[in-house]
Amino acid sequence: MIAPVAYENILVEIEAPIATITLNRPKVLNALSPDLIREVNEALGELDADEQVKAVVLTGGPKVFAAGADIGDMADRTAVDQLRRDQTGRWAGIAAFSKPLIAAVNGYALGGGCELALMCDLIIAGDTARLGQPEINLGIIPGAGGTQRWPRTAGKYAAMEAMLSGAPVTARRAYELGLVNKVVPAEMAFEVAKRTARGLAEKPPLALRMAKEAVLKAFESPLSEGLAAERKSFYFLFSTEDQKEGMHAFLEKRKGVFKGR
Ligand code: CAA
Repeated sequence: MIAPVAYENILVEIEAPIATITLNRPKVLNALSPDLIREVNEALGELDADEQVKAVVLTGGPKVFAAGADIGDMADRTAVDQLRRDQTGRWAGIAAFSKPLIAAVNGYALGGGCELALMCDLIIAGDTARLGQPEINLGIIPGAGGTQRWPRTAGKYAAMEAMLSGAPVTARRAYELGLVNKVVPAEMAFEVAKRTARGLAEKPPLALRMAKEAVLKAFESPLSEGLAAERKSFYFLFSTEDQKEGMHAFLEKRKGVFKGR
């Protein structure tokens, strides 16, 4: 079912319990204009609030994920223009999405496109995927998290190579570096991402949310703080119906049915 809200730069499809957001500016390889970013943000806000939706797939379609921020839009802007617009700040809403967000990446995921994929919780790469941060070739550096998320995931040297050379890595190399979860034939990437999302949609939603929060906390805080946050969420989950259902279902040798309560 296509969601009722009309967007100009993305397509949103809800097939409860999952939804798909497709970046849709094919003529410019899904370059991330401010309007596209705003729409992705808005759509995620709505899908976060929609109780029927348990997990979301983000894709650019079969050929390209996204070739980065819109260079045509940025070329003549000043530092003050950029600061006022706070384009990178707008990505914060995407990073804050509370349900599992799975990127299905085919073809180029460059610059802001790569950074957008790295904001997702899981990445399913088609074998045509090319991930990179070519900003250096434009006289800038990544501005939406690339310099921070690459080293936290792939380590210092792979990150340095990517940032300084601007050269993209293949899907296989991205897998070796731990940047993506799986590499599959390109024509399968979307289906595998949807299958993954459907699998997660069967899990207890509150526990999913807390698990996601806890893992993300590991990137933000010292170990003791992360462990304390984890422990609080662990105890909290014993106040949920889903915990009772999950444990009793195990003891009764049946599959748990979770309600997010
Ligand atoms: N912004 C605007 N338009 C873009 C674009 C971008 N990032 N990437 C591609 N396009 C446009 C091209 O200008 C071209 O338009 P026309 O047909 O009107 O000429 C169209 O998309 C197709 O692109 P190409 O002809 O270049 O396609 P290709 O297959 O030969 O090359 C590519 C593909 C290697 C991805 C090449 O397009 C490219 O290098 N794109 C730019 C990648 C880049 O530098 N991204 C970083 C942007 S900065 C950023 O993202 C900052 C940040 O951190 C937020």
